[in-house]
Amino acid sequence: MAEKTKIKPAKGKLGVLTPGMGSVATTFIAGVIAVRKGLAQPFGSYTQMGRIRLGKRTEQRYPKIKEFVSLSSLDDMVFGGWDVYKDNVYKASVKAEVLDKRLLDQIKNELKAIKPMKAVFDKNYVKRLDGTHIKKGKTKMDLANALMDDMKKFKKKNGCDRLVMVWCGSTEIYMEEAPCHKNIKALEKGLRENDENIPPSMIYAYAAIKMGVPYANGAPNLSADIPALVELAKKNGVPIGGKDFKTGQTLMKTILTPGFKARSLGVDGWFSTNILGNRDGAVLDDPDNFKTKEVSKLGVIEHILQPELNPELYGNIYHKVRINYYPPRGDNKEGWDNIDISGWLGYPMQIKVDFLCRDSILAAPIVLDLALLLDLASRSEFKGGIQEYLGFFFKSPQTKKGLPPQHDLFKQLMKINNTLRHMKGEDLITHLGLDYYY
Ligand SMILES: NC(=O)c1ccc[n+]([C@@H]2O[C@H](COP(=O)([O-])OP(=O)(O)OC[C@H]3O[C@@H](n4cnc5c(N)ncnc54)[C@H](O)[C@@H]3O)[C@@H](O)[C@H]2O)c1
Repeated sequence: MAEKTKIKPAKGKLGVLTPGMGSVATTFIAGVIAVRKGLAQPFGSYTQMGRIRLGKRTEQRYPKIKEFVSLSSLDDMVFGGWDVYKDNVYKASVKAEVLDKRLLDQIKNELKAIKPMKAVFDKNYVKRLDGTHIKKGKTKMDLANALMDDMKKFKKKNGCDRLVMVWCGSTEIYMEEAPCHKNIKALEKGLRENDENIPPSMIYAYAAIKMGVPYANGAPNLSADIPALVELAKKNGVPIGGKDFKTGQTLMKTILTPGFKARSLGVDGWFSTNILGNRDGAVLDDPDNFKTKEVSKLGVIEHILQPELNPELYGNIYHKVRINYYPPRGDNKEGWDNIDISGWLGYPMQIKVDFLCRDSILAAPIVLDLALLLDLASRSEFKGGIQEYLGFFFKSPQTKKGLPPQHDLFKQLMKINNTLRHMKGEDLITHLGLDYYY
């Protein structure tokens, strides 16, 4: 048996801060409050509902993740965040129309008490939003300092022992790595000089990491996925993870694609289209913002199928992803996939997937799991920097430079489970036996 990693106990309150208090963040907050009042169950949450096998199959040890590793209890969580709109969490949840108003009314007082702080926002990066609840500052460094002040005040006011930050804000326009992202010095100079290559999500990430607050990025924004912030996270011993919550269509892709590959079925084409009508859909209706999402969604199939190794089966895939803003649908997205596959002797077949999902219902438990697991990492002897095992939760897992991400959901599950086993000094399970999934 391996040696246990030292983990400080999850004592005291954990403050969970979300830049962006829209559909996903409010569904997460209202959900946790509903669960701790016994009004609902945390379906979809790896830490709350998932179990992990320990030892040999004959030992019959299958604790829940939350029983196996020391996680903060839901009762010890406190919520806060920032938004460009002033609405308190009750009002924002009602507007988001994700959760039933009857449920929201039962926790109205708690939700009303959570009010967003003024956001660091710049319309140049998200054109379709018009909020006014926005911080003013001469330089981007001033704005970062203002966020750090917010965090200090929040921590003190709420008597928090620790904080974590999970980006639940809008998808910003597509950006690539620029010279000011190269190292900490260049980034700090860029912040002081208002470099246009530093979008708001990067300012939040900088402020969090600088303060020693773990940071996860639920959108495909570049945000903390730049050498400067990875360097700062390592230097300050702060765990980080990203990018883009793996929900809906991409979740289905990373479930189905490993199956096609496992059975050596060819894939000729994959056409994915979505209709959704929430605020996220409105933001993604702008081509510059959609491009960021498109890049995040497109990599998945190719990475899993490895066309360079299997050119006969996957050398000529046509992969297209579309998102269409369609207001009547609200948060209840519909994702269609048409998959053209080939079997024995190249005979063509088709698969149609029509996933009538609920975007924020799929994303909310991921916010919870990321907050709890990042906090766990920060209390353990794990070094700061990218926590690759959290790739399980992301569409576009952040990895060390030059390292290809792992997209296959089942390999990702094996990795996160083995990371937790390692942390607790349990034997790693390589699944040489039959039960692959635990
Ligand atoms: N729901 C899903 O299944 C899913 C999956 C993957 C990723 N995401 C991403 O998660 C994010 C949140 O999704 P959502 O459905 O809650 O969207 P939403 O539009 O309902 O909420 C986003 C909120 O962020 C706010 N915001 C934007 N920029 C901000 C800033 N700089 N500072 C503070 N607040 C800011 C907006 O005003 C809005 O209220 C989006 O980027 C979305 O692409 C969602």
